[in-house]
Amino acid sequence: MIAFLQSLFRRPEPAIFDARAADAGALARVHANAFLHGWSESEFERLLAERSTVCHVARASGGTGSICGFVISRIIEDEAEILMVAVSRSEQSRGLARRMIARHLGRLAAHGARQVFLEVDEGNAPAIRLYAGAGFEQVGERPGYYAEAGKPPAAALIMRRSLD
Ligand SMILES: CC(C)(COP(=O)(O)OP(=O)(O)OC[C@H]1O[C@@H](n2cnc3c(N)ncnc32)[C@H](O)[C@@H]1OP(=O)(O)O)[C@@H](O)C(=O)NCCC(=O)NCCS
Repeated sequence: MIAFLQSLFRRPEPAIFDARAADAGALARVHANAFLHGWSESEFERLLAERSTVCHVARASGGTGSICGFVISRIIEDEAEILMVAVSRSEQSRGLARRMIARHLGRLAAHGARQVFLEVDEGNAPAIRLYAGAGFEQVGERPGYYAEAGKPPAAALIMRRSLD
């Protein structure tokens, strides 16, 4: 009985799809929701128009709702770089980024990527935990890379994962 009642109130998991050019505005909204300073819609339009870009989006309510997360990468020859992963605040900590990254890494491998790099702020604990859980290891550091007014500069950690 309790399980039945819980199932009535449980939100369906977001579903993951390939991004389309028309998603640029939604990506900018999710990015602004996840960060204080979002990338603009035109920046996402430009990225989505590039042939080297690979992007997955997650739609809420089992795929019928609005875009609530995305992961976007660029591939050059056999190396890929994850440029951004973001999940709307209301959908965070439900395992969505973990699922998106798993799907995304499979696609990058299918496109010929053999290793994947990314940079992450040393103070971004959720993202570092996400990437470590997805098999990324720290291979370098750029001290003072992230400078924000009113905060001490933070290092960018460079992380890598092999897809072999
Ligand atoms: C980083 C981000 C994408 C994670 O998305 P998410 O859907 O909440 O992540 P998941 O629920 O899949 O959890 C992934 C891991 O992060 C951990 N995590 C999630 N939220 C956390 C939090 N607030 N504090 C610490 N760890 C957290 C989870 O425990 C999980 O680790 P585990 O598998 O070892 O338990 C999300 O917090 C976000 O959009 N942040 C703002 C944008 C950002 O910083 N992007 C990364 C830029 S490099």
